[in-house]
Amino acid sequence: LDNGVARTPPMGWNSWNTFGCNINEALIRQMADAMVSSGMREAGYQYVVVDDCWMNPNRDSSGNLQGDPSRFPSGMKALGDYIHSKGLKFGIYQAPLAETCAQYFDSYPGSTGALNHEEQDARQFAAWGVDFLKYDWCSPSGTIDDQVRTFAKMRDALKATGRPIVYSINSNSIHDKTGPRRNWGDIANMWRTTEDITNKWDTGQTNGYPMGVQNIVNVTVPLWSYAKPGAFNDQDMMEVGRGGMTDTEMRSHFALWAVMASPLIAGNDLRNMNAATSTILKNANLIAINQDPLGVQAIEVSNDGTRRVLAKRLSNGEVAVALFNQGSTTTTVSTNGFSVGLEGVSFTLRDVWTDAVTGTSGNISASVPAHGTVVYRASGSGWPTSTTTTTTTTTTTTTT
Ligand code: DGJ
Repeated sequence: LDNGVARTPPMGWNSWNTFGCNINEALIRQMADAMVSSGMREAGYQYVVVDDCWMNPNRDSSGNLQGDPSRFPSGMKALGDYIHSKGLKFGIYQAPLAETCAQYFDSYPGSTGALNHEEQDARQFAAWGVDFLKYDWCSPSGTIDDQVRTFAKMRDALKATGRPIVYSINSNSIHDKTGPRRNWGDIANMWRTTEDITNKWDTGQTNGYPMGVQNIVNVTVPLWSYAKPGAFNDQDMMEVGRGGMTDTEMRSHFALWAVMASPLIAGNDLRNMNAATSTILKNANLIAINQDPLGVQAIEVSNDGTRRVLAKRLSNGEVAVALFNQGSTTTTVSTNGFSVGLEGVSFTLRDVWTDAVTGTSGNISASVPAHGTVVYRASGSGWPTSTTTTTTTTTTTTTT
Protein backbone atom coordinates (compact mmCIF):
# COMPACT_ATOMS: atom_id res chain seq x y z
CA LEU A 1 0.00 0.00 0.00
CA ASP A 2 1.44 3.30 -1.04
CA ASN A 3 0.69 5.34 2.07
CA GLY A 4 4.24 6.46 2.83
CA VAL A 5 4.84 4.02 5.72
CA ALA A 6 6.32 0.53 6.02
CA ARG A 7 8.78 1.10 3.19
CA THR A 8 10.72 -1.70 4.89
CA PRO A 9 9.12 -4.49 6.97
CA PRO A 10 7.76 -3.05 10.24
CA MET A 11 9.69 -4.03 13.38
CA GLY A 12 8.23 -4.06 16.87
CA TRP A 13 6.62 -6.06 19.64
CA ASN A 14 3.06 -7.37 20.06
CA SER A 15 1.34 -8.49 23.27
CA TRP A 16 -0.58 -11.52 21.98
CA ASN A 17 1.86 -14.43 21.82
CA THR A 18 2.90 -14.16 25.46
CA PHE A 19 0.02 -12.40 27.20
CA GLY A 20 -3.16 -13.03 25.19
CA CYS A 21 -5.97 -11.15 26.97
CA ASN A 22 -3.93 -10.64 30.19
CA ILE A 23 -2.80 -7.12 29.36
CA ASN A 24 -2.96 -3.79 31.15
CA GLU A 25 -1.32 -0.37 30.88
CA ALA A 26 1.42 -1.11 33.42
CA LEU A 27 2.49 -4.15 31.43
CA ILE A 28 2.54 -2.29 28.12
CA ARG A 29 4.55 0.54 29.70
CA GLN A 30 7.02 -1.97 31.11
CA MET A 31 7.38 -3.46 27.66
CA ALA A 32 8.07 -0.03 26.16
CA ASP A 33 10.70 0.50 28.88
CA ALA A 34 12.20 -2.92 28.15
CA MET A 35 12.26 -2.18 24.45
CA VAL A 36 14.69 0.62 25.27
CA SER A 37 16.71 -0.97 28.10
CA SER A 38 17.18 -4.26 26.23
CA GLY A 39 18.64 -2.50 23.19
CA MET A 40 15.74 -3.60 20.99
CA ARG A 41 14.88 -0.01 20.05
CA GLU A 42 18.51 0.63 19.19
CA ALA A 43 18.46 -2.49 17.01
CA GLY A 44 15.53 -1.10 15.01
CA TYR A 45 12.36 -2.27 16.75
CA GLN A 46 9.78 0.55 16.85
CA TYR A 47 6.14 -0.43 17.20
CA VAL A 48 4.64 -1.45 20.56
CA VAL A 49 1.41 -3.15 19.53
CA VAL A 50 -1.45 -3.73 21.98
CA ASP A 51 -3.36 -6.71 20.60
CA ASP A 52 -6.90 -7.89 21.37
CA CYS A 53 -8.67 -7.30 24.74
CA TRP A 54 -7.66 -3.68 25.43
CA MET A 55 -11.24 -2.48 24.99
CA ASN A 56 -14.08 -1.60 27.23
CA PRO A 57 -16.65 -4.19 26.09
CA ASN A 58 -19.07 -1.32 25.43
CA ARG A 59 -18.71 1.79 23.31
CA ASP A 60 -19.53 5.10 25.00
CA SER A 61 -22.86 6.89 24.43
CA SER A 62 -21.50 8.52 21.25
CA GLY A 63 -20.36 5.17 19.95
CA ASN A 64 -16.66 5.80 20.60
CA LEU A 65 -14.29 3.02 21.54
CA GLN A 66 -12.70 3.28 24.95
CA GLY A 67 -10.01 1.40 26.79
CA ASP A 68 -11.06 -1.08 29.48
CA PRO A 69 -11.39 1.21 32.52
CA SER A 70 -9.99 -1.28 35.00
CA ARG A 71 -6.96 -2.33 32.99
CA PHE A 72 -6.26 0.88 31.04
CA PRO A 73 -7.46 3.47 33.57
CA SER A 74 -5.30 6.29 32.14
CA GLY A 75 -6.85 5.81 28.73
CA MET A 76 -5.35 4.90 25.39
CA LYS A 77 -4.15 8.42 24.51
CA ALA A 78 -2.01 8.48 27.65
CA LEU A 79 -0.59 5.08 26.78
CA GLY A 80 0.27 6.30 23.29
CA ASP A 81 1.91 9.39 24.76
CA TYR A 82 4.02 7.22 27.06
CA ILE A 83 5.13 4.98 24.19
CA HIS A 84 5.98 8.04 22.08
CA SER A 85 7.95 9.54 24.96
CA LYS A 86 10.24 6.51 24.73
CA GLY A 87 10.95 7.20 21.07
CA LEU A 88 8.69 4.33 20.03
CA LYS A 89 5.47 4.01 18.03
CA PHE A 90 2.02 2.97 19.19
CA GLY A 91 0.12 0.05 17.67
CA ILE A 92 -3.42 -1.08 18.46
CA TYR A 93 -5.83 -3.86 17.49
CA GLN A 94 -9.35 -3.83 16.09
CA ALA A 95 -11.54 -6.21 14.10
CA PRO A 96 -13.61 -5.33 11.03
CA LEU A 97 -16.85 -7.18 11.87
CA ALA A 98 -19.07 -7.04 14.97
CA GLU A 99 -16.66 -8.73 17.35
CA THR A 100 -12.95 -9.03 17.97
CA CYS A 101 -11.56 -12.57 17.86
CA ALA A 102 -11.51 -12.85 21.64
CA GLN A 103 -15.15 -11.75 21.71
CA TYR A 104 -16.14 -14.13 18.95
CA PHE A 105 -14.05 -17.04 19.99
CA ASP A 106 -12.99 -16.90 23.62
CA SER A 107 -16.16 -15.50 25.23
CA TYR A 108 -14.38 -12.25 26.05
CA PRO A 109 -17.34 -9.94 26.71
CA GLY A 110 -18.80 -7.33 24.41
CA SER A 111 -19.09 -6.62 20.73
CA THR A 112 -16.86 -3.72 19.80
CA GLY A 113 -15.70 -4.56 16.28
CA ALA A 114 -15.57 -1.69 13.78
CA LEU A 115 -18.60 -2.74 11.73
CA ASN A 116 -20.49 0.48 10.85
CA HIS A 117 -18.00 2.49 12.92
CA GLU A 118 -15.05 2.39 10.53
CA GLU A 119 -14.55 6.15 10.06
CA GLN A 120 -15.28 6.87 13.72
CA ASP A 121 -12.76 4.27 14.90
CA ALA A 122 -10.09 5.45 12.46
CA ARG A 123 -10.54 9.02 13.70
CA GLN A 124 -10.35 7.81 17.29
CA PHE A 125 -7.12 5.91 16.64
CA ALA A 126 -5.57 8.96 14.95
CA ALA A 127 -6.64 11.13 17.91
CA TRP A 128 -4.94 8.70 20.29
CA GLY A 129 -1.72 8.91 18.28
CA VAL A 130 -1.91 5.40 16.89
CA ASP A 131 0.82 4.62 14.34
CA PHE A 132 -0.07 1.00 13.50
CA LEU A 133 -3.42 -0.77 13.25
CA LYS A 134 -3.78 -4.55 13.30
CA TYR A 135 -7.16 -5.39 11.75
CA ASP A 136 -8.22 -8.97 12.31
CA TRP A 137 -11.02 -10.81 10.46
CA CYS A 138 -12.78 -12.70 13.26
CA SER A 139 -15.48 -14.72 11.59
CA PRO A 140 -15.48 -18.09 9.88
CA SER A 141 -17.76 -16.67 7.18
CA GLY A 142 -17.36 -14.08 4.43
CA THR A 143 -16.18 -14.48 0.87
CA ILE A 144 -12.90 -13.14 -0.37
CA ASP A 145 -14.84 -10.29 -2.00
CA ASP A 146 -16.45 -9.42 1.36
CA GLN A 147 -13.00 -9.33 2.86
CA VAL A 148 -11.56 -7.13 0.13
CA ARG A 149 -14.43 -4.64 0.46
CA THR A 150 -14.27 -4.62 4.24
CA PHE A 151 -10.50 -4.31 4.55
CA ALA A 152 -10.52 -1.55 1.89
CA LYS A 153 -13.06 0.39 3.92
CA MET A 154 -10.68 0.75 6.84
CA ARG A 155 -7.77 1.49 4.48
CA ASP A 156 -9.78 4.46 3.19
CA ALA A 157 -10.88 5.50 6.68
CA LEU A 158 -7.27 5.54 7.87
CA LYS A 159 -6.20 7.55 4.84
CA ALA A 160 -8.95 10.09 5.53
CA THR A 161 -7.50 10.80 8.98
CA GLY A 162 -4.34 12.20 7.38
CA ARG A 163 -2.17 10.39 9.98
CA PRO A 164 0.42 7.94 8.64
CA ILE A 165 -0.68 4.60 10.10
CA VAL A 166 0.77 1.21 9.18
CA TYR A 167 -2.15 -0.98 8.14
CA SER A 168 -1.68 -4.63 9.11
CA ILE A 169 -4.46 -7.06 8.20
CA ASN A 170 -5.25 -10.66 8.95
CA SER A 171 -7.80 -12.29 6.67
CA ASN A 172 -7.07 -15.66 8.23
CA SER A 173 -8.31 -15.82 11.81
CA ILE A 174 -10.76 -18.69 12.21
CA HIS A 175 -11.30 -18.39 8.50
CA ASP A 176 -10.62 -20.64 5.61
CA LYS A 177 -7.12 -19.87 4.43
CA THR A 178 -7.86 -16.77 2.36
CA GLY A 179 -4.44 -15.28 3.11
CA PRO A 180 -2.37 -16.97 0.42
CA ARG A 181 -5.11 -16.60 -2.18
CA ARG A 182 -4.62 -12.90 -2.80
CA ASN A 183 -1.95 -10.24 -3.16
CA TRP A 184 -3.20 -7.74 -0.58
CA GLY A 185 -0.67 -5.06 -1.51
CA ASP A 186 -3.37 -2.72 -2.84
CA ILE A 187 -5.15 -2.83 0.53
CA ALA A 188 -2.59 -3.10 3.32
CA ASN A 189 1.06 -2.66 4.27
CA MET A 190 1.27 -6.20 5.61
CA TRP A 191 -1.01 -9.18 5.61
CA ARG A 192 -0.86 -12.49 7.42
CA THR A 193 -0.25 -15.48 5.17
CA THR A 194 -1.49 -18.16 7.56
CA GLU A 195 -3.48 -18.86 10.68
CA ASP A 196 -1.81 -18.30 14.05
CA ILE A 197 1.77 -19.23 14.76
CA THR A 198 2.70 -21.29 17.83
CA ASN A 199 6.06 -21.83 19.52
CA LYS A 200 6.87 -25.02 17.66
CA TRP A 201 9.09 -25.75 14.72
CA ASP A 202 6.57 -27.99 12.93
CA THR A 203 2.93 -28.71 13.72
CA GLY A 204 2.29 -30.68 10.54
CA GLN A 205 -0.21 -28.07 9.34
CA THR A 206 -0.34 -26.88 5.75
CA ASN A 207 -2.46 -23.89 6.77
CA GLY A 208 -4.63 -24.58 9.77
CA TYR A 209 -4.31 -23.90 13.45
CA PRO A 210 -1.74 -23.72 14.91
CA MET A 211 1.12 -23.21 12.50
CA GLY A 212 4.74 -24.06 13.24
CA VAL A 213 7.59 -21.92 11.98
CA GLN A 214 8.51 -24.20 9.11
CA ASN A 215 4.87 -24.64 8.09
CA ILE A 216 4.44 -20.87 7.74
CA VAL A 217 7.56 -20.56 5.62
CA ASN A 218 6.18 -23.25 3.30
CA VAL A 219 3.01 -21.22 2.71
CA THR A 220 4.83 -17.91 2.26
CA VAL A 221 7.70 -18.93 -0.04
CA PRO A 222 5.53 -19.05 -3.21
CA LEU A 223 4.13 -15.56 -2.44
CA TRP A 224 7.53 -13.90 -3.00
CA SER A 225 6.37 -11.68 -5.85
CA TYR A 226 3.88 -9.80 -3.62
CA ALA A 227 6.57 -8.27 -1.40
CA LYS A 228 7.76 -4.74 -2.10
CA PRO A 229 8.27 -1.49 -0.17
CA GLY A 230 4.98 -0.69 1.56
CA ALA A 231 3.63 -4.23 1.14
CA PHE A 232 4.89 -7.36 2.87
CA ASN A 233 3.83 -10.94 3.50
CA ASP A 234 3.43 -11.23 7.29
CA GLN A 235 4.56 -14.57 8.69
CA ASP A 236 3.08 -13.60 12.09
CA MET A 237 4.59 -12.43 15.35
CA MET A 238 7.80 -14.23 16.22
CA GLU A 239 8.10 -17.04 18.75
CA VAL A 240 11.80 -16.45 19.44
CA GLY A 241 12.37 -16.59 23.20
CA ARG A 242 9.11 -18.34 23.99
CA GLY A 243 10.41 -21.87 24.57
CA GLY A 244 9.29 -24.83 22.51
CA MET A 245 12.21 -24.59 20.10
CA THR A 246 15.95 -25.22 20.28
CA ASP A 247 18.36 -22.32 19.88
CA THR A 248 19.18 -23.63 16.39
CA GLU A 249 15.48 -23.55 15.50
CA MET A 250 15.06 -20.07 16.94
CA ARG A 251 18.05 -18.82 14.95
CA SER A 252 16.55 -20.43 11.86
CA HIS A 253 13.15 -18.84 12.63
CA PHE A 254 14.68 -15.37 12.84
CA ALA A 255 16.89 -15.89 9.76
CA LEU A 256 13.92 -17.08 7.72
CA TRP A 257 11.73 -14.12 8.81
CA ALA A 258 14.62 -11.82 7.88
CA VAL A 259 15.24 -13.13 4.37
CA MET A 260 11.52 -13.47 3.66
CA ALA A 261 11.14 -9.70 4.29
CA SER A 262 8.54 -10.56 6.91
CA PRO A 263 7.73 -7.92 9.52
CA LEU A 264 9.89 -8.56 12.59
CA ILE A 265 7.40 -8.35 15.45
CA ALA A 266 8.75 -9.93 18.62
CA GLY A 267 6.21 -11.87 20.70
CA ASN A 268 8.29 -12.72 23.78
CA ASP A 269 8.46 -11.05 27.18
CA LEU A 270 11.10 -8.38 26.61
CA ARG A 271 11.58 -7.86 30.35
CA ASN A 272 13.42 -11.13 30.83
CA MET A 273 15.11 -12.27 27.64
CA ASN A 274 18.00 -14.68 28.00
CA ALA A 275 21.26 -14.06 26.16
CA ALA A 276 20.42 -16.39 23.26
CA THR A 277 17.09 -14.69 22.60
CA SER A 278 18.53 -11.21 22.83
CA THR A 279 21.42 -12.08 20.50
CA ILE A 280 19.06 -13.59 17.95
CA LEU A 281 16.52 -10.76 17.93
CA LYS A 282 19.21 -8.08 17.72
CA ASN A 283 21.39 -9.67 15.02
CA ALA A 284 22.42 -6.58 13.07
CA ASN A 285 23.40 -8.45 9.89
CA LEU A 286 20.01 -10.15 9.60
CA ILE A 287 18.15 -6.97 10.49
CA ALA A 288 20.05 -5.13 7.73
CA ILE A 289 19.06 -7.88 5.29
CA ASN A 290 15.41 -7.68 6.39
CA GLN A 291 15.38 -3.88 6.27
CA ASP A 292 17.16 -3.58 2.94
CA PRO A 293 15.49 -0.75 0.99
CA LEU A 294 14.91 -2.88 -2.12
CA GLY A 295 12.21 -4.59 -0.03
CA VAL A 296 12.08 -7.90 -1.88
CA GLN A 297 11.44 -11.34 -0.42
CA ALA A 298 13.86 -14.24 -0.89
CA ILE A 299 13.23 -16.54 -3.80
CA GLU A 300 13.68 -20.27 -3.34
CA VAL A 301 16.35 -21.29 -5.82
CA SER A 302 16.48 -24.96 -4.90
CA ASN A 303 14.68 -27.44 -2.66
CA ASP A 304 15.26 -31.17 -2.64
CA GLY A 305 12.81 -31.71 0.21
CA THR A 306 15.60 -31.47 2.80
CA ARG A 307 18.12 -28.91 1.58
CA ARG A 308 16.62 -25.58 0.65
CA VAL A 309 18.32 -22.48 -0.69
CA LEU A 310 16.69 -19.06 -0.54
CA ALA A 311 18.21 -15.91 -2.05
CA LYS A 312 17.21 -12.32 -1.29
CA ARG A 313 18.51 -9.61 -3.59
CA LEU A 314 19.81 -6.49 -1.81
CA SER A 315 19.88 -2.90 -2.97
CA ASN A 316 23.67 -2.70 -3.33
CA GLY A 317 23.85 -5.70 -5.63
CA GLU A 318 24.74 -8.14 -2.86
CA VAL A 319 22.61 -11.20 -2.17
CA ALA A 320 21.59 -12.78 1.13
CA VAL A 321 21.82 -16.54 0.72
CA ALA A 322 20.04 -18.77 3.23
CA LEU A 323 21.10 -22.42 3.36
CA PHE A 324 18.27 -24.12 5.19
CA ASN A 325 18.29 -27.73 6.39
CA GLN A 326 14.75 -28.99 6.80
CA GLY A 327 15.91 -32.49 7.60
CA SER A 328 16.59 -34.14 10.94
CA THR A 329 20.36 -34.66 10.63
CA THR A 330 23.29 -32.37 9.86
CA THR A 331 23.92 -32.05 6.15
CA THR A 332 25.81 -29.92 3.66
CA VAL A 333 23.66 -27.43 1.81
CA SER A 334 25.17 -25.95 -1.35
CA THR A 335 24.48 -23.60 -4.19
CA ASN A 336 26.61 -21.35 -6.38
CA GLY A 337 26.84 -17.72 -7.35
CA PHE A 338 25.13 -18.21 -10.68
CA SER A 339 22.07 -19.83 -9.03
CA VAL A 340 21.57 -16.99 -6.57
CA GLY A 341 21.95 -14.29 -9.20
CA LEU A 342 25.45 -13.07 -8.41
CA GLU A 343 27.47 -11.86 -11.31
CA GLY A 344 30.87 -13.40 -11.81
CA VAL A 345 32.43 -16.44 -10.26
CA SER A 346 34.32 -14.95 -7.35
CA PHE A 347 32.75 -13.33 -4.34
CA THR A 348 33.01 -12.97 -0.61
CA LEU A 349 30.67 -14.45 1.96
CA ARG A 350 29.95 -12.90 5.32
CA ASP A 351 28.40 -15.34 7.80
CA VAL A 352 25.66 -13.35 9.52
CA TRP A 353 26.07 -15.15 12.85
CA THR A 354 29.87 -15.23 13.16
CA ASP A 355 30.75 -12.22 10.98
CA ALA A 356 33.51 -14.33 9.44
CA VAL A 357 34.28 -13.32 5.86
CA THR A 358 35.59 -15.85 3.39
CA GLY A 359 36.36 -15.72 -0.28
CA THR A 360 35.08 -18.25 -2.73
CA SER A 361 35.35 -18.82 -6.41
CA GLY A 362 32.39 -21.03 -7.04
CA ASN A 363 30.29 -22.88 -4.59
CA ILE A 364 28.42 -21.42 -1.66
CA SER A 365 28.09 -24.19 0.85
CA ALA A 366 27.91 -24.96 4.55
CA SER A 367 27.39 -27.81 6.94
CA VAL A 368 23.99 -27.04 8.45
CA PRO A 369 22.53 -28.72 11.56
CA ALA A 370 19.02 -30.18 11.57
CA HIS A 371 16.44 -27.37 11.26
CA GLY A 372 19.30 -24.89 10.99
CA THR A 373 19.80 -22.02 8.57
CA VAL A 374 23.20 -20.62 7.65
CA VAL A 375 22.96 -17.18 6.06
CA TYR A 376 25.70 -15.51 4.05
CA ARG A 377 25.72 -12.01 2.76
CA ALA A 378 27.37 -12.59 -0.60
CA SER A 379 29.16 -9.89 -2.47
CA GLY A 380 30.25 -10.50 -6.07
CA SER A 381 33.60 -9.21 -7.21
CA GLY A 382 33.21 -9.94 -10.88
CA TRP A 383 34.97 -12.35 -13.19
CA PRO A 384 38.53 -13.01 -12.09
CA THR A 385 41.33 -11.72 -14.30
CA SER A 386 43.71 -14.36 -13.02
CA THR A 387 43.30 -17.72 -11.37
CA THR A 388 43.83 -16.10 -7.98
CA THR A 389 40.67 -15.31 -6.09
CA THR A 390 40.71 -11.90 -4.50
CA THR A 391 39.21 -11.63 -1.08
CA THR A 392 37.64 -8.31 -0.24
CA THR A 393 35.85 -7.33 2.90
CA THR A 394 32.14 -6.78 2.62
CA THR A 395 30.78 -3.69 4.28
CA THR A 396 27.48 -4.38 5.93
CA THR A 397 25.31 -1.35 6.48
CA THR A 398 23.07 -1.64 9.48
CA THR A 399 19.83 0.27 9.30
CA THR A 400 18.44 1.02 12.70
C1 DGJ B 1 -6.18 -13.93 15.82
C2 DGJ B 1 -4.87 -13.38 15.34
O1 DGJ B 1 -4.34 -14.20 14.35
C3 DGJ B 1 -3.90 -13.27 16.53
O2 DGJ B 1 -2.66 -12.80 16.07
C4 DGJ B 1 -4.49 -12.41 17.59
O3 DGJ B 1 -4.60 -11.08 17.09
C5 DGJ B 1 -5.85 -12.93 18.01
N1 DGJ B 1 -6.72 -13.10 16.86
C6 DGJ B 1 -6.52 -11.99 18.98
O4 DGJ B 1 -7.78 -12.41 19.33
